[in-house]
Amino acid sequence: MPHPKDFAPPLLKWYDANKRNLPWRKTQNPYRIWVSEIMLQQTQVSRCIEYYKNFLKKFPTLRSLAKASWRNVLPVWRGLGYYRRGENMLLAAKILVAEHDAKFPQDNRALQKLPGIGPYTAAAIASFAFNLPEPAIDTNVKRVLGRFYGCPEKGVEPRARSIFRKHAHDSAELNHALMDLGSALCTSRKADCEQCPLAKGCDYYQSGKRDQWLAQRPQKTNTKRSGKTVMDVGCACIHRDGHYLFAKRIKAKGGKWEFPGGKREQGESIRACLKREIQEELGVEVSVRPAFLVEEFVEKDFTWRLHFCRCQILRGKPQCREHERLEWVSPLNFSKYPMPKENKRALDKL
Ligand code: ADE
Repeated sequence: MPHPKDFAPPLLKWYDANKRNLPWRKTQNPYRIWVSEIMLQQTQVSRCIEYYKNFLKKFPTLRSLAKASWRNVLPVWRGLGYYRRGENMLLAAKILVAEHDAKFPQDNRALQKLPGIGPYTAAAIASFAFNLPEPAIDTNVKRVLGRFYGCPEKGVEPRARSIFRKHAHDSAELNHALMDLGSALCTSRKADCEQCPLAKGCDYYQSGKRDQWLAQRPQKTNTKRSGKTVMDVGCACIHRDGHYLFAKRIKAKGGKWEFPGGKREQGESIRACLKREIQEELGVEVSVRPAFLVEEFVEKDFTWRLHFCRCQILRGKPQCREHERLEWVSPLNFSKYPMPKENKRALDKL
C-alpha cells in the first residue's frame, strides 16, 4: 500500500484545543490505565468517572487488588454491570503478582494473555502507559477512519498502524484524539463535518457521501419563510423543586450551557420531539407542557425556531450522555451559566 493520507497533524492540533479532561488521562501508571480501560469497555465515560475514583481509593495498587477476594471487590463494582469484567480483573491482578512481579508486560501480545484484555484494551494500555505506537481500534475509531479513508473496516488497521509508526511519540495523544473525535463530531448518528479538523482530507466529506446521507435521512426541516428553511427545535426547561436542569455543551461544541433538547423530525410534534430527544440525551422520560415561548432568529441558511417547554421528569435519573456536565440551577444563579443569547427571554420568563 502507498503511504496512507496522514490524519495526525490536524487531529493533534484539534485535540490540543478540545481534549476532554478525564482522570485517567492524567497518569501513565499502567495499573490505573488498566482499571479505566476495563471499566470503559462497556460503560459510558460519564458513568465511569466516579467508579474509577472509588475503585482506586479502595485498591490504590495492583498488589492491594491482588490480595482481595471478590467479596471485597463487589461493593466498588456494584452498579457498573458486566461483573465478569471485575472478576477477570481480580484474576489478572493475582496472575500479575504471582508470575510477573506485579508488573504489566510492556508488549501487546503478552498483555492479551491476561484475562479480560483483548486487542483493543491491550493497545490502549501499551500506548497510554508505555508510549508504544499501537492504535486502539474499536467501533468508533473504525467508523472515523473508515470514513476518512473511504475504506472497508478491515482496511483501517494497516493504515492506522502506518500513521502511528510515523508519529510514534504521539501515540497516546493520537488514540485519545481519535476517541474524542468519534464521540464529539464523527458519531454514528451524525457527522458534523463543518466542525471537523479532518474534513479537508476526508473521503466521506469530499466525495459527497455525507451530503447524500444528509439528503436521504428523515428530514427535520419544514416550511420555507422569506427564502430560509425553518428549523424547529424543542428546548426542555426541566424543573424540580424550583431548579432547572442545565446542560453544558462539550468543548468541541462551544462549551456554553443550554437547555437539553433538539431538532424536530418531519411530521413530529414538538412534544414528541422533546420526549424523544430527552430520552436519548438524558435517559429519562418527561412530561412536556405546551411551549411558553417561541423564539425565532436567522443564522446561516436557516430560520431557527426555538420552542421552550416546561417539562417534568416522570421516570429515571438524568444521565450525562451527550454533554460535558448537567446541573440543577436556581433562577437566582442563572446569570452564572452563560447560554447563547437566544435563551435570554426564556430565562427571564422562568
Ligand atoms: N473509551 C475507551 N477508552 C477510553 C479513554 N481512555 N478515554 C475516553 N473514552 C474511552
